[in-house]
Amino acid sequence: MTDFSTIYKLSLVAVICFIQACSSSCPVLECWFVQEKTGRGGGLTAATSQEKALLHIRTNAYSNPAKSQHDPSDINPERIYFITDEGASLCHRSLNPPRGSVEKPRCEMNPFLPQPSTLKWVAPLTDSALSPMYLQADWFSTAIQGLNKELAASTIMRAPTATKEQDVILSVTSKTVSVQSRLGETALLDCGFWVDPSSPLSGSGFAVEWRYQFRGNGRLVLAYDGKTDRLADTQEEGATLDFDGLHEKGNASLILQEAKVHHSGMYICTVYLPYLVAQVAVELDIVEPPSLSIHPSPLPLAVPGQTVSVQCEASGFAPLSLELSWEFKGADGKSRPLGSGSVTGHRQAWDGTYSQSTRLELDTTKLDLGRGGELICVAGHVGGTQQASVTLNVIGFSTPSIEDSMAMVGVALVLYGLIKFVSWTFTGSGSDEAVQQDKKDK
Ligand SMILES: *[C@@H]1O[C@H](CO)[C@@H](O)[C@H](O)[C@H]1NC(C)=O
Repeated sequence: MTDFSTIYKLSLVAVICFIQACSSSCPVLECWFVQEKTGRGGGLTAATSQEKALLHIRTNAYSNPAKSQHDPSDINPERIYFITDEGASLCHRSLNPPRGSVEKPRCEMNPFLPQPSTLKWVAPLTDSALSPMYLQADWFSTAIQGLNKELAASTIMRAPTATKEQDVILSVTSKTVSVQSRLGETALLDCGFWVDPSSPLSGSGFAVEWRYQFRGNGRLVLAYDGKTDRLADTQEEGATLDFDGLHEKGNASLILQEAKVHHSGMYICTVYLPYLVAQVAVELDIVEPPSLSIHPSPLPLAVPGQTVSVQCEASGFAPLSLELSWEFKGADGKSRPLGSGSVTGHRQAWDGTYSQSTRLELDTTKLDLGRGGELICVAGHVGGTQQASVTLNVIGFSTPSIEDSMAMVGVALVLYGLIKFVSWTFTGSGSDEAVQQDKKDK
């Protein structure tokens, strides 16, 4: 009986916690409402106006939004919106910073104009005439970035004309805003979308497009018409989608089967519904640490006074930036920096990776190297610091160490003992013979 009530209480507590967690994870987002200024035509750059806005997010229209008594006074009440996001794309912890946090999610909201697209892989979506009545409403788009690059989201929202209660109709999100991949690995650029199932636009097809953008250059990576299940001709080798996941769960993630250096850059995932479009950007960095090799290896024996010349080559790394340096680790285990040596310019290999080397001219008289130790080449790189080492042996050292002196004393003692023993044996046996001779004689 008591067991039952305990379980009952615990589950009640769990349910309450769950409900609270759910409701509190939908944020109240501060946003910039940006629109083109009306009534000031002309000029190449359209004048825009920017106002603060506040978006109360909730997952269903019946849940009571946190009452607006906390609404900051510097926000125009006209720009306070109540947004129903049934897909809960915006109820992510990265959009809900702890109270008093200096960092805030970034958000921009714009008026949106639904229109058919002329792109080859999108045009089939608007072949059949849709209920234009549904499009007659106030439409908005938002672009949102969560804290710590945990989320990028873009939504298209609809509000029946002259209300401020908006419904999210399409949301596109990425949970990998910044991706790092090693060379040759499979890179996964996350992108997912959600469509309000109660919208007439749902179920009438979608299209997905991935574009690559790097320093002003763009190219189409992949375009897929989900209505006719067709890929556009322009397709990058090794780039694909999980088509089952795409149709079943809106998983539009881009899979790059073998990451190459030239894949580094910005990727834009765009999802089209009939008349609607939303997109998020994902950055991919191919990061490969260098491999190090030292020449010559092993090093020839060094004589004090001689200059030792040794080279360290770092190869196969990306991106370009690299810090090369040398260290000496003596018999005492202590490391001493020897500077960077003379570093060469970089070269780029066929696969886009870089190589660079450094030559060290080590003057053995200037440094107290003892009998030698380890020469270490250190390469600092964003992919991880790498090290390679080679043994340096110095012979004929000028100042013998204590161990050396002790060893010399030891050797001298042993030699002395040996000489003594030998001479004793000889003289001893000689006298024995003499004694025996004496006995015979007698
Ligand atoms: C999307 O698909 C990729 C590839 O199959 C998979 O690795 C990833 O986990 C999927 N993402 C989600 C959110 O299901």
